[in-house]
Amino acid sequence: MLNVALPKGRLGEKVYAMFEAAGFECPSIKENNRKLIFENEEKQVRYFWVKPSDVSIYVERGAADIGVAGKDILLEYEPNVYELLDLDIGKCHMAVAGPKDFNDDGTRTLRVATKFTNIASNYYDSIGRDIDIIKLNGSIEIAPILGLSDVIVDIVETGTTLRENNLEVKTKFLPISARLIANKSAYNFKREQIEKIVSSIKEQIEND
Ligand code: PRP
Repeated sequence: MLNVALPKGRLGEKVYAMFEAAGFECPSIKENNRKLIFENEEKQVRYFWVKPSDVSIYVERGAADIGVAGKDILLEYEPNVYELLDLDIGKCHMAVAGPKDFNDDGTRTLRVATKFTNIASNYYDSIGRDIDIIKLNGSIEIAPILGLSDVIVDIVETGTTLRENNLEVKTKFLPISARLIANKSAYNFKREQIEKIVSSIKEQIEND
């Protein structure tokens, strides 16, 4: 069995469609229920839905052989996995954002609220800016509105969340997309099956 961790949600559904087109279909996954694990014995494949930020944990520890995770998660947590392919979906940017009337004049330590503390620290290190990092777990946009931080470092896709909270992008510094990842030893033991998927998905992306 090839164990595949899919990120729950719209992105995961797109990813499943790619696997299906690669010949690894699993019709039961389309049943409307709350089940999380689905398998197709004939195709020797088992899918499970996990929280997007948990996919790399399953893959790193070998509970999943392969999975799909955002480049943001891979850069933030640096899991010990192989990154096999850029799927060219789930595209967005990591950005610094803040209130329209805020401009960083560099005179004092910048207060930065984010879920992505490593990505934010690395970015500000790279431009030599001192920051005070404030780790939050969600609704990051609220932080500068309430004066908890000066700016945020977060994912921007359509920009709607920022706009509706009267914030604006200051700098987009990192493009993000979904990546196919593999457990290192599973990649050696199940290389044939994994490579079949990789080459089919590559073809799908190129023909898109
Ligand atoms: C992300 C991010 C923003 C939003 C940006 O949150 O944290 O809040 O998406 O998207 P937009 O530019 O299209 O408005 P997500 O929906 O992933 O939920 P989270 O807060 O649980 O991370």
